[in-house]
Amino acid sequence: MSKAVSGFSKLSKAEKIQWIAEQHFANPAEAVQVLQKYWNNDTDLQKLHDEFIENTISNFYLPLGVAPNFVINGKPYTIPMAIEESSVVAAASKAAKFWSNRGGFKARVISSEKIGQVHFIFKGDSLKLKRFIEEIQPKFFSGTEGLTKNMQKRGGGILAIELRDKTSDLEHYYQLHATFETKDSMGANFINSCLEQFAKTLKEEAALREDFSEEEKNLQVVMSILSNYVPNCLVRAEVSCPVSELKEEKHISQEEFAEKFVRAVQIAEIEPYRAVTHNKGIMNGIDAVVIATGNDFRAVEAGVHAYASRNGKYSSLSHAKIENGIFTFWMEIPLALGTVGGLTSLHPLVKISLEMLGNPSAHELMEIVAVAGLAQNFGALRSLTTTGIQQGHMKMHLMNILNQFQATEEERKMVTKHFQHHTVSHSGVVEYLESIRNTK
Ligand code: MEV
Repeated sequence: MSKAVSGFSKLSKAEKIQWIAEQHFANPAEAVQVLQKYWNNDTDLQKLHDEFIENTISNFYLPLGVAPNFVINGKPYTIPMAIEESSVVAAASKAAKFWSNRGGFKARVISSEKIGQVHFIFKGDSLKLKRFIEEIQPKFFSGTEGLTKNMQKRGGGILAIELRDKTSDLEHYYQLHATFETKDSMGANFINSCLEQFAKTLKEEAALREDFSEEEKNLQVVMSILSNYVPNCLVRAEVSCPVSELKEEKHISQEEFAEKFVRAVQIAEIEPYRAVTHNKGIMNGIDAVVIATGNDFRAVEAGVHAYASRNGKYSSLSHAKIENGIFTFWMEIPLALGTVGGLTSLHPLVKISLEMLGNPSAHELMEIVAVAGLAQNFGALRSLTTTGIQQGHMKMHLMNILNQFQATEEERKMVTKHFQHHTVSHSGVVEYLESIRNTK
């Protein structure tokens, strides 16, 4: 067990590493070497990364891949994806190609409203509170003018501030529930700054209120924070084509494939155990693009899964139907994304990813990300309902196994050739590799 340490954040990077190496590793020199191997030789770039967070000791790489051949609303895209899981990029690319020959993906932003709340306790007359909030509404707006000026120039700002009475759920609990339009920024800092100013105005004005009792004047602000649940920041992605144009899969006709696919989606709609995995597959595509474009994947994950439970039961985010011989597969999901601010102008690879996408607006990025999720879901369901998922997955995983056993170039060639005609399994690859090594 390591000793407690005080003032750790004040130590230099070298000192931090030294402390960690001595406390936690059987071979401290080796640990230091591994950490240093991942430093960047470009000291400015390393400094940039060091300063993203506190106590940085090294960089943690994720592969950045690309899925070409996406067509969204008639426009071609190559989508950058930062993800460690083998087969995700391959599946996205395959689905992109497939749908590019069938009209491509259609996507549209339905709404882009963000939400923030001031949570407070008011021990008093709720009608008096209601009148008070109505009367001080202009002060909420005038108090935040300095914050909203720039956002308003870009067409955004505060949309509405309403009082919500939550006392039936929690004694004396009320909210200022505010909605915002933040245009191309994700808007977290803007929203939180506005909310903290609302809270200040609320407290100051309550203290001055003549018709309030002492207890009412003393209302308690508990916290002011944006919500990552954004059911009105919604985007829809869709594909459709005649069933007869779906590809014939192994041992299965187009009609049978379409029906089986729709059935698989219906199962995820009614069965939470399956829905979680089904949606995880969607998030494989979504998170990878969200990360590559410098957005907050934890916020997206939290909001998306809350949305998947909005009817009281966790369910599939995507839907599918066959009507009059037409197969349609679609999804509506909440996505609060930004293409300005945050990491977008700081991280060189984020800038590259955004430029690769043609420097999209936040709305366009919402469409691209939703499409990446739908494509991923299509790829997963197509494999699951036809060949099974392991065939493609293990093919990609083969490289990881070869790396694990430090296979030489010659061994890689032999193993890859052999497993073109054999089912890949971890033990199968290891056995075959050993047999090659033993015959040498
Ligand atoms: C694996 O990362 C994702 C899948 O499990 C998704 C699904 O089952 O739909 C293949």
